[in-house]
Amino acid sequence: MPLRSHDWFLKSGQAGFKARSRMKNQGTPQQMFDGRPVIGICNTWSELTPCNAHLRILAEQVKRGVLEAGGFPLEFPVMSLGETLMRPTTMLYRNLVSMDVEESIRANPLDGVVLLVGCDKTTPAAIMGACSVDIPTIVVTGGPMLNGKFQGRDIGAGTDKWRFTDDWRSGNMSTADYLESETCMSRSDGHCMTMGTASSMACIVEALGLMLPGGAAIPAPDARRRRLAHLSGNRIVQMVKEDLRLSQILTRSAFENAIIVNAAIGGSTNVILHLLAIAGRIGVELRLDDFDRLGADIPLLVNLKPAGEFLMEEFYYAGGLPVVLQNLARAIDLDALTVTGQSHAENTAGAVCYDDKVIASLDQPFQPSAGIAVLRGNLCPDGAVIKPSAATPRLMQHRGKAVVFASVADFHSRIDDPALDVDENSVLVLQNVGPKGFPGMPEVGNMSLPRKLLDRGVRDMVRISDGRMSGTAYGAVVLHIAPESAVGGALALVRDGDMIELDLAGRRLHLDVPPEELARRRAAWQAPPRSETRGYTRLFLDHAQQADRGVDLDILVGGSGQGAAYATDAQANTQS
Ligand code: FES
Repeated sequence: MPLRSHDWFLKSGQAGFKARSRMKNQGTPQQMFDGRPVIGICNTWSELTPCNAHLRILAEQVKRGVLEAGGFPLEFPVMSLGETLMRPTTMLYRNLVSMDVEESIRANPLDGVVLLVGCDKTTPAAIMGACSVDIPTIVVTGGPMLNGKFQGRDIGAGTDKWRFTDDWRSGNMSTADYLESETCMSRSDGHCMTMGTASSMACIVEALGLMLPGGAAIPAPDARRRRLAHLSGNRIVQMVKEDLRLSQILTRSAFENAIIVNAAIGGSTNVILHLLAIAGRIGVELRLDDFDRLGADIPLLVNLKPAGEFLMEEFYYAGGLPVVLQNLARAIDLDALTVTGQSHAENTAGAVCYDDKVIASLDQPFQPSAGIAVLRGNLCPDGAVIKPSAATPRLMQHRGKAVVFASVADFHSRIDDPALDVDENSVLVLQNVGPKGFPGMPEVGNMSLPRKLLDRGVRDMVRISDGRMSGTAYGAVVLHIAPESAVGGALALVRDGDMIELDLAGRRLHLDVPPEELARRRAAWQAPPRSETRGYTRLFLDHAQQADRGVDLDILVGGSGQGAAYATDAQANTQS
């Protein structure tokens, strides 16, 4: 079967000379240009992305596997997204990275690609880009860090940071201990080891069938992760020979499986946005309501923070995602195809649970329903989401007075003001943090509580916004309100003292203000000023879709295929 790379490396004349000759400056011998599969190793390595800083080690391991299987590995960099350093938010750049990945793959002589990812947005960004090309693709994540260890107990990245910060702010933790906990939380290579967005996305990648079985949970420093990279290098060469492409694996069934798995693992709300965006790229019809319909009643089978007690290390030792897939056999489609060329059923046939305190069965779950609920109402006609398993149950039916913040800056300037008119029954409302509002939809939805309420021991309140929440966070937090306030959504019309009703059972979020008053406010509403006038941010502001469509750019939805038109080197043709 002719491969894409043949159009570069097997060409005669100047076109072939140019392609081969300059590759030989890396010491590549002629025999590598014998038509063997060329495998791209798409690397989101960066020292500015600490969670991915070890990916060059994994790239070397992938190369061994590719060479061993008779392929020609070529590593290439793409923009990386470091959750802890990038401003205003990595979500602003997810689509930019997807463009980088897409165009890098299509423009180059690649027959298959291995995506090396890890930190939150690097995983969906790379998959979105690869979907728009649709060549054989396999994903290797960097793996979770080892458990944090602090003062004799395990601590989880992100999740315990919120607790420590609340304790420190309320004077219950010294500054010295607070600083020491930083060191103890991040003590190895890898991404957040709670079931935050990175771990959730790793599990979702495995559930979608894009990773070798059992790969999601292997700790980053464990030698078995390097073996996974090696075996993925082996496998991608075979996938090219089988022409097993993303579109054959990413079917509607695969996405339904992923939604159900995200519920069962207590996964991140960010997964919703990423799955919607990935589905849009590969041409699968997926809607926000699918998450509620398919996932809301799925029990919690994994006892990991932030919803539970343990961390990814214990999850791996307990058997990892293959056990979860087996335990979900009644709920998911185990016949779905995976990168192995086999089904989940075949891949996971020998899965054994080694610790039922960490992974539960469907009949004896840790919680009866763990999925994401999709809310509707006059505040969110196009939807909003909440993760009930991470919230205080008594707040899931609540009516309270709005305390409104018009921006992140407004929130920070007033939240700890002793004179702020707020109590534990108030509903904190944050406007203008949606896709276009901030821009980029930052993870600020889990607003920290007013200091005066923290001092009184209050640890959860209803909070609503058009922003996102870190997958490691928790609380009665309504997110992703669509349409967002910056484009004139009803959230923009909320005023201090308005009554807001949250009714989880009824899937309702309601602003109890008469329609005529809302109409009056709408007539007076003015869009916030838009400061960005150029560059990528302008592109984002012009084209970003709302949260219910995954915040992908409208011009990026779908794919352009492998780019047959690019198979001709225009410059060489004019010169030969
Ligand atoms: Fe990178 Fe959490 S900061 S995964």
